Amino acid sequence: MSTSPARSTWSSRWAFILVTIGSSVGLGNIWKFPYMAGSQGGSAFVLVYLLCVLLVGLPLLMAEIMIGRRGRGNPVTAMLNTAEETGNSAWWCVLGWVGMLGALLILSFYSVVSGWIMDYLYQALTGLQVETAENARQNFDTLLASPWRLGLWHTLFLAMTVGVIARGVVAGIEVANKILMPALFLILILLTLWGWWAGDMHTAWHFMFDFKAEVLTPSVILAAVGHAFFSLSLGMGAIMAYGSYLDRNSSIANTSLWVAMAGTLVGILAGLAIFSLTFRYGLAPSEGPGLILQALPLAFAHMPGGQVFASLFFLLVLFAAWTSAISLVEPFVAWLTERMGIHRYAAAWGTGLIVWLLGVGVCLSFNLWSAYKLFDLDLFGVLDFLTSRIMMPLSGMAIAIYAGWKMGLPLVREEMRLEAPMFSLWFWVLRYIVPTGIVLVFCHVLMPEMSK
Ligand code: PFF
Repeated sequence: MSTSPARSTWSSRWAFILVTIGSSVGLGNIWKFPYMAGSQGGSAFVLVYLLCVLLVGLPLLMAEIMIGRRGRGNPVTAMLNTAEETGNSAWWCVLGWVGMLGALLILSFYSVVSGWIMDYLYQALTGLQVETAENARQNFDTLLASPWRLGLWHTLFLAMTVGVIARGVVAGIEVANKILMPALFLILILLTLWGWWAGDMHTAWHFMFDFKAEVLTPSVILAAVGHAFFSLSLGMGAIMAYGSYLDRNSSIANTSLWVAMAGTLVGILAGLAIFSLTFRYGLAPSEGPGLILQALPLAFAHMPGGQVFASLFFLLVLFAAWTSAISLVEPFVAWLTERMGIHRYAAAWGTGLIVWLLGVGVCLSFNLWSAYKLFDLDLFGVLDFLTSRIMMPLSGMAIAIYAGWKMGLPLVREEMRLEAPMFSLWFWVLRYIVPTGIVLVFCHVLMPEMSK
């Protein structure tokens, strides 16, 4: 077995919970979940989403942590170590590779989008000027049209991310999360209270929680599974890498439950805060950049103290994105240090450089290169499709098959340390339900008409 002699360990189980929540809570929870819930079934969607998390997300999260901890290494090494221990082919390490490369591809556009958030934070701090919906749209279009502005923020965000990684697992990742995550929760609670006090919480609540079962189509349900994947950071080696620094005595099941609950709670609170403010000013609900970078700034511009709350809001989104980005770099950096013997500092900045170059391509895909398309998608679209629609589900499927069918019951049971009935339930779901769910999602992606 190839294990590096001095591997770091999180300083406590809570530290691990916090960093994993940090990875999970990101742009996905804040700009996608609220709108998905509101427009696709309200509380019916929230229930379906929770079911997807319980039946697909959580079991996989547990399996990924388990492989990482047992394999005690970066995703490739963890797969090699566990494959060797369980008499499986070394080829399973391809799974580690797919995860690590997928994570870097995600980061290349995640960093550009996080750069948008930094630009808006800067605008908010210096007095965001949007008077009308037309202004708000133009403001966003002007940002996208400027490769220099996009590039500058992308560079800065990536440097912040890599800077944390370079400092190490505990001194970098853990310390950053211990500061950023409590701050994030504090700001979120503050904004929710503000939304309740100054906004239209009543309409926001009804939008997000009215039970609209009639809107739930198979396609919506499959989108919920897909979102559970992205929001729990599954299949990209991030969780496996974090799990490899977890001590032997912590309960994987308990920890995973905390992570899943926190992510959903953040999505719900963010939705209530955002929609109560946008509804208050009569703005139509939407998702993604349209919601966060157009409707919301317009609402902020019209409310008393708007500049302060706008700054706090973009800080919240930035913290969420930052802690997620950190987890996307760790798998590859861990591989470079453990397998290639490269110093962590050089490994982190070298990885940053590769991602930066790809990200520059993404910045250009919004302006100078916007005419270059593949299957009608620009580079941003291609990277998003390839990672979240293809690599994530495939990798998740492989993890379920590996942990459920290949590693062998005795070893898995020993590593999970779960009470008998709970263990059997988890193992059964991992073997049968998770792969079925993923195959359905995959069919949905490749043949959208099938699931309408
Ligand atoms: N979970 C993050 C979000 O919801 O924004 C994104 C993400 C982070 C995906 C880390 C995958 C990953 F490995």
